[in-house]
Amino acid sequence: TVEFDIAATPFDTLSSVDAWMLHPQRDILLVNVNGSIRAFTSICPHAGCNNSWSYSNQVFLCSCHGSRFNNQGQVTAGPATRNLREFPVSVDGSTVSIQL
Ligand code: FES
Repeated sequence: TVEFDIAATPFDTLSSVDAWMLHPQRDILLVNVNGSIRAFTSICPHAGCNNSWSYSNQVFLCSCHGSRFNNQGQVTAGPATRNLREFPVSVDGSTVSIQL
């Protein structure tokens, strides 16, 4: 389990809808989808790049080779052929827990 405090820096930036970040220590993409935090692996299912992500218009782009994924983790453009694995998230107060 990975836990963080969404009220504390740097995770407080996730409070806004459509905010996202790469977890600073773990291979996890974090994104606020309509007010809920969702967590996906940041290891691209194409060839394993884990730190070349950007996110705009609710689409994740892995710039290693251009694969795109929607904010549900589903691949929408290759070369990746598999979705991003999603991790369950639970929230207790300002503590967010991710089950890896
Ligand atoms: Fe992400 Fe190739 S590793 S598109």
